Order: sequence, then C-alpha cells, then structure tokens
Amino acid sequence: MASVGMAQVGCGTWGQVMLTRFRAHSQARIEAVCDLNGDVAKQIAEQFGAKAYYDNLEELLRHPGIDAVGVATPDFAHREAVVGALDAGKHVLVQKPMATTVEDCKAMVEAEQRSGRYLMVDFQHRWGIGFAEARAAVHSESFGRVVHGHIRMSNSQRVPTQMLSWAGRSSVLWFLGTHTLDLLRFILDSEVTRVFAVSRRGVLESRGVPTPDFFQSTLEFDNGACIQMENSWVLPEGEIAVIELNMELYGANECVRVNQAPNNVIQKTTKTGLEVPLGARSAVMARGTSIDYFIDCVVSGTRPSITGHDGLMNTATLVAIERSVAEGRPVALAEVL
Ligand SMILES: NC(=O)c1ccc[n+]([C@@H]2O[C@H](COP(=O)([O-])OP(=O)(O)OC[C@H]3O[C@@H](n4cnc5c(N)ncnc54)[C@H](O)[C@@H]3O)[C@@H](O)[C@H]2O)c1
Repeated sequence: MASVGMAQVGCGTWGQVMLTRFRAHSQARIEAVCDLNGDVAKQIAEQFGAKAYYDNLEELLRHPGIDAVGVATPDFAHREAVVGALDAGKHVLVQKPMATTVEDCKAMVEAEQRSGRYLMVDFQHRWGIGFAEARAAVHSESFGRVVHGHIRMSNSQRVPTQMLSWAGRSSVLWFLGTHTLDLLRFILDSEVTRVFAVSRRGVLESRGVPTPDFFQSTLEFDNGACIQMENSWVLPEGEIAVIELNMELYGANECVRVNQAPNNVIQKTTKTGLEVPLGARSAVMARGTSIDYFIDCVVSGTRPSITGHDGLMNTATLVAIERSVAEGRPVALAEVL
C-alpha cells in the first residue's frame, strides 16, 4: 500500500494529537474528519487539510479512500465508532481506555475478529522513555522474578478542573490508571488475577467536578508479583509538569526505577551497584510513537502488537478495581469477565 487514507473520529485535544502524527507520517494522508460538533469538524478539517468533514459516523464511513480510522471520542463513547469502522472494513486505532465496560470491549473484540481488520488500543506509554528498557531489564536472566513494586501516574488538578470537560463522567482510574495498568501488563508479561483497591472523594467534588480524587490499588499478577498502583487527580495546580509518572520494580536480585515525568531518569540497581542507562531518550525517539507504529503496521500489513484483547483485559481489571472500591473487598478478575 503506497499511502494510507486516514480518518479521525473525535477532534478534541487528543484527536488533534493523532491528526498531527497522521499529517507528519510520510505514508499517510488525511482523508476526512468527524466530530459530533460540526463546527469543530469544519475547523479541524481546514487546519489539517482533510478533504472532507462530517458530524456523523455513517457519512464519514461512506467517504471513499479511507483505510484506517483514529477514534478519540470521550472514554465512554468509543464503541459505536470502533465497531462501525471495523464493520465497514477499516483498521482502527482507538484511544485508551478501549471502553469503560467489559460489554463494550467484548463487542469491539467481536467486530475485530469478524472483520479481520486491525484494532489497536493506543497504549502510547509503551513507547515512552524508559519503559521498554525496564521490560528488557525485568526479562534479563540476572533480574530474578519480580517480587513487588509500585507505579504512580497522576495529574495536577488542572486536568479534571480545566482541561477535560467530561471529567465528572470519567475518573483518574480510566484516564491514567489505564496507562499504568497497561505498562505493568506489558513489562511483566503477566495478567492481573485479583485486585484490592481504595478511593476517596472530596477535593474535586468541592471544586464542582463529581469524580474520585484518587485510587490506590493492590494488583496481584499471575506470575506472583504484587504491585501497588496509585492514580491521583489532586496534585497541586502549581506542579511544574501536569503529569507525574514513575515506577519501581523489585526482582529477586535487581531492581529497576523509571522516573519518566518530570525527571526522565531510568536506573537499574544490580548486586554490585547502580547503573544509570544513558541514551534512553534517543532510543525512544528512534522507535517513534504508537501512532506512527500503527500506520507502519497498516502500510506493511503487520498486525499490531497491541490488540483488542489487551484493551479488554485492561478494562476488565479497571472494572474489578471499581468493584473492589464499591464493595470494600478483594475482587478476582474472573468475577468481571
Ligand atoms: N493517549 C493519551 O495519552 C491520551 C491523552 C488524552 C486523552 N486521551 C483519550 O482520548 C480520548 C479523547 O480525549 P480528549 O482529551 O481529546 O477529549 P475532548 O473532550 O478534548 O475531545 C473529544 C471530542 O470528541 C467529540 N465527540 C464526542 N462524542 C462523539 C461522537 N460520538 N462522535 C464524534 N465525535 C464525538 C467531542 O465533540 C470532542 O470534540 C479519550 O478517550 C481520552 O482518554 C488519550
């Protein structure tokens, strides 16, 4: 395939990030954009040089020359566009989380299987600084089995109060927990079997956003590792970076630490001392982004390494965390699948 015809559904903040990558890719062209808000669709079509714009999915999918569709509607509104595009024979790159219910995920996986097209969930942090290196470290012979660890990804209060108009219909678990959970599944190559989580409300509710302040989740993996995952939306607005992302994993012999935001540091401690691998940034830049990778896969006819199954297992685990919070007890993944 010489050039991939791309379309974008949902043209808000992240839809525009996707369009920026589509436009920059030498083997992609932007055919059309779609947003429920027709004025937004029109303005974004002009800004990115799309040939057409639509305010509904049906018309977009009748537009000729579309090979693949990016979906960046709000977290809870991915299913219709994903299933519609797959059934229309398009490959799909959907934003994380794939959906906020297991039922929606299963419908998307069924459409992926029925269509034979690619469905990739944009778990972009697998391409982030340090995490592929951490995965390699964890799977090296010297590391030993992963025993325990923690991962934290949080935002300044600016995100739920100023940046996301729909924060009250989602939560930091769906917005950021989906990323940290995916990183753990990717790095450990293991599935969560049981979760136990707590969450509190108050700070954001007092600012008019009806969503939890944070989630603290203990995750048990089938390889025996126990990981603490923290996701908060109440970091002070004065933080230098809007996002904090760090992880520490302890193996039987070694440990690996990634402090991606704000510090961009990856460290490994072995039996003999501390290693600070250099060049992580350039290695990542050479790998490109998840969006570039998706287009490359469509061009080369290679199924992406992230599929609908990853999205389903991710969502099921987040649903189990919500249930654990609501019922105050550990919840096995098998209960929600
Ligand atoms: N990969 C990442 O790191 C990352 C970062 C931010 C957001 N996201 C994800 O991207 C998605 C969009 O987030 P955002 O911040 O761009 O939100 P946003 O509110 O800025 O944009 C959403 C857009 O979708 C449009 N829309 C809503 N329902 C629609 C429908 N049914 N059909 C067509 N358009 C529709 C809205 O009009 C709006 O323009 C979310 O799933 C979010 O979690 C991913």
